[in-house]
Amino acid sequence: RTVYLEDYRPTDFVLETVELIFELGENLTTVGSEMRFYRRGGADQSAPLVLDGDSLALSGLALDGKPLLPERYEQKHDKLIIHDLPTDEPFTLTVKTRIKPAENTQLLGLYRTNGIYSTQCEAEGFRRISYFYDRPDVLAVYTVTIIADKATSPLLLSNGNLVEQKELEDGRHMAKWHDPFPKPAYLFALVAGDLGMIEDKFTTMSRRDVTLRLFVEHGKEGRAGYAMNSLKRAMKWDEERFGREYDLDIFMIVAVSDFNMGAMENKGLNIFNDRLILADPETATDDDYGRIEAVVAHEYFHNWTGNRITCRDWFQLSLKEGLTVYREHEFSADQRSRSVIRVEEVKFLRAHQFPEDSGPLAHPVRPTQYLEIDNFYTTTVYEKGSEVSRMIATILGQDNFRKGLDLYFERHDGGAVTIEDYLKCFEDATGRDLSHFALWYHQAGTPEITASSEYDEKVGRLSLTLSQSTPSTPGQKEKKPLHIPLRTGFIGPNGDDMEPSSVSGGERRDDVLHLTKEHQTFVFEGLGARPAVSLNRDFSAPVKIEYDLPKEDLVRIAQHESDLVARWDAVNTLALNTLAAATRACQSGETIPVDPALTDTLTGFAEDDALEPAFKALALTLPSELDIGRRIGQDIDPDAIHLARNTVRDAVAKAGHKAFSALSVSPAEDAPFSADAESAGKRALRNIALSYLAAANGDATPAKEAYDRATNMTDRIAALRILAHQFTGAAETKAALEDYRERFAREPLVLDKWFTTQATIAGPDALERVQNLMSDTAFDIGNPNRVRALVGAFASSNPSGFNRPDGAAYSFFANFILTSDKRNPTLTARLMTAMRSFSALEKTRREKALIELERIASHDDLSRNLRDIIDRMLKK
Ligand code: ARG
Ligand code: ZN
Repeated sequence: RTVYLEDYRPTDFVLETVELIFELGENLTTVGSEMRFYRRGGADQSAPLVLDGDSLALSGLALDGKPLLPERYEQKHDKLIIHDLPTDEPFTLTVKTRIKPAENTQLLGLYRTNGIYSTQCEAEGFRRISYFYDRPDVLAVYTVTIIADKATSPLLLSNGNLVEQKELEDGRHMAKWHDPFPKPAYLFALVAGDLGMIEDKFTTMSRRDVTLRLFVEHGKEGRAGYAMNSLKRAMKWDEERFGREYDLDIFMIVAVSDFNMGAMENKGLNIFNDRLILADPETATDDDYGRIEAVVAHEYFHNWTGNRITCRDWFQLSLKEGLTVYREHEFSADQRSRSVIRVEEVKFLRAHQFPEDSGPLAHPVRPTQYLEIDNFYTTTVYEKGSEVSRMIATILGQDNFRKGLDLYFERHDGGAVTIEDYLKCFEDATGRDLSHFALWYHQAGTPEITASSEYDEKVGRLSLTLSQSTPSTPGQKEKKPLHIPLRTGFIGPNGDDMEPSSVSGGERRDDVLHLTKEHQTFVFEGLGARPAVSLNRDFSAPVKIEYDLPKEDLVRIAQHESDLVARWDAVNTLALNTLAAATRACQSGETIPVDPALTDTLTGFAEDDALEPAFKALALTLPSELDIGRRIGQDIDPDAIHLARNTVRDAVAKAGHKAFSALSVSPAEDAPFSADAESAGKRALRNIALSYLAAANGDATPAKEAYDRATNMTDRIAALRILAHQFTGAAETKAALEDYRERFAREPLVLDKWFTTQATIAGPDALERVQNLMSDTAFDIGNPNRVRALVGAFASSNPSGFNRPDGAAYSFFANFILTSDKRNPTLTARLMTAMRSFSALEKTRREKALIELERIASHDDLSRNLRDIIDRMLKK
C-alpha cells in the first residue's frame, strides 16, 4: 500500500472536537472516544466515514448515543468504515477500544515501561489507541480524561490545561485536560505514572506567566536543571529572534527511558528520550550538554513551526522538520560559537545526509511516495531540509527571511499547509521569484560542482568556471541544474580578502555567487594578484565541490581565510587527500606517505593562540575512517583505511609533539565545572592533544592517569576512549573499563557510553566483544538506547570490525535484525540503514554483505518498516 502525494484529498467529514476517556490498566486499558463530526460541504452525500486503526479491539460503537447495528459498519484490520451517516446534521460518534500498553514493545501508540504510561503518536501511532482520522490535516479540539490507580500513577498528564482533578473509588483518581488549540492526532500525548519534578516559570514578552515543569525519574531531579535552563533560553530566543511567544499557561517536558527517537513536540507536553534531558558533570559529556540544549530548543520551536502551523500530509514533513532544525541551528549558533556550530553541522551532513543522498535510500526533501512514513524521518528531510531554509535566508538576506517567516505565521496560523505555501510567503513578502530554487525540495541527490579558474595577470582578471550536475537517484534519472548560492572569497597572497571591482557572468550579492546554469563562467576584474579562491564559504550550499586547487592555495585558505568554516574545510581537505593517498599506498604495499603540508598546517593550528580552543580541537581532529571511506567512494577496504589513518595520526603526533604537550597540560582542576561552550572547547582541545601524545609516546600511563583524575564525564570518557582504542589489550585499559562498569553500575544511560566505546574498538575481535557485551546484565534488547549504543554503534561506527572479511559480523547483525523486527520495527528499520552503503565495499565484503541482506529480504513476515528499507537497499 504505497501512498502517493498526488492522491491527496481532504476528508469527507470534518472533525470538530474529541473527548477521550482513558481507564488505564497495565494489562488492559480502555479508551472511550466521543467525536463530533459533520459532513464537509461539497462532499459526496453517500460517502462513508473511514477511520484508521491498528491492532485495536473494538468494544463499543454508537451514533448519537445509540449503539450501531453491525450492518451499519465494517471492521477491517486497519480501518473502521461507517455507512449511512447524516448528510447535513452534525453527529457524535462514540468508539470504545481496548489496548494492552504493557505488551506494546513497538513503543508506538500508548505503552507502559518501567511503570510509566506514555505515548508516541507521530507519525501514525494514534490509530493504535483508537479508531481515528489519523492524519495531520484533521485538526480537532481535545478534552482528555485520565483515570488510573493513584498509588502507582499519582501523575496524570495530557496536552493543554488541567481543568479538573478528583479522587475516585478503589484508590483511583482522575484528571481532565483541555487543549484549546486544534491539533492533529500526532500531537496528542498522555503520560501517567510516578515521577519526580522540577518547576520554574517564564514570563513571556507580553507579560504572561508560564509554569514550566520537567518530569524525570525520582532521584534524577538534580540532572534536569540544564534542560530547564535550555528551555528558558529557547523561549526567550524565539521571542527575540522570530517574535514567537508561547501560548498556553503551562509547558511540560517528560523524560522517559524507553523511546524510539530523540524527542517529540506534543502540544504543551513534550516527551523526551531521557538521554536528551539528564545531565550533570559526572555523567554527561560536553557533547551531551550541547545536544540537550539543541533538542530542548528544537521541540519547543515546534510549537510554532509544526504545531500552530502543521503539515497538510506527511509528504510535507520537512515543512516542519527542516525549518525547525534550521531554527535550532540558529539558536545553537547564537548560544555558542557560530563557526564551531557550523563546522559540526557540516560534519554531520557529510557523514549522514550525503551518504543517504548517494545511496539506495536517496529521496527528495519532499518525497512523492512512501510505503512506511516512519522511514522518512531522515537526515534528508531534517538536515538537508534545514539547509534548504538556510539557503533561502542566504538568497534573501536575514531581514527578508524574517519578513517571509512573519507572513507565514500570520497567513497560516491554525493551518495544515504545504511546502508551496511556505515558499509563497517568501516570494510574496520580498518579491523574489523562488520557482527555480524550489527544485531543491523535489530533486534528490547531492549536487556536484566542478570548478576551474584562470587568472590573467596582465589585466588582473579571474575567470571562474563552475559546472553543476546531480547524479541519478532511485526513481529520478534526469536532473536539472539548481539555483545554488555559493559564498565565495578571494584570498590574496598576504592572506587578506580581496574584493573584485566588477563581476560579470552571473549575479553576485555580498560574497554570494548565484549559480543557476549547468555551466557558468564568472569573470572578476580588478584583482591585482592571483587570489586563492575559497568556494562555498560557511558551507552556504549542501554540495560537493571538485576543485583542483594548488596545494599552496589550500594551505593559504587554511591559514588565512576570514571565514573559519572555510579554514576548517581546507585543513579537512588537506587531511583527506593525505589519508586517501596513504590508504592507496597501504593497499599496494608501498610505504605510507605523510604530506608535510598537513603536519605543518596542523602543528601551526596547535600553536596558534589566537584561535578559540573549540575550533582548534575541530581542526586537529583527523577525518574518521568512515570519512576516508566515503572520500575513496568505491572498493573500500576498511582495514587499509584503519592502518593508513593510524600511520598518519602517528606522524602528526610526532611532528606536533611539543605543541600537543603544551596543550595537554590540565588547567586548574579545582575550578568548578561549567558546561559553557568556552570551557567545553578547552576540554576538547586538551583531550585531542592527549590522544596525540598517547600516539606519539605509545604509553598508556598518562591516559590512565587522566582517567583516574577525571572529575567530569567529558574527560573521563575521552581518557577511556584513548585507552580502549589505542591500548586495547593493556592492563590499564582493563582496569579503567572495570572501574567504569562498577562506578555506573546502576546507571544504564551512563553505561551506554561504555558499550559504545567498546563496540567501536577496531579490528576483527570486535564481533566477539559485542556478543559478550550483549550478555552483560545492563544490556536490554527492549531499550532502544541500549540497542543503539551497542549494536547500532558496532554496525554504523566500527568499519574495520563490522566489515571483517569473513562476513561473520554481517550474519550476526542479520540475525539481530530479524529478532529485533518482531519487537520494534521502527528501531529495527533504522538500525538496518547502517548497511545502506554496502555496495561501496570491496568485492569480498560486498558479496558477503549481499548474502545476508538477501537472507533478511527472503523472510515473508517482515514488518512493513523493515520490508521497505531492505527492498530499497536491494533495489527491489
Ligand atoms: N517530530 C519529532 C521531532 O523531530 C520526531 C518524531 C519522529 N517520529 C518517527 N516516527 N520517527 O522532533
Ligand atoms: Zn522535529
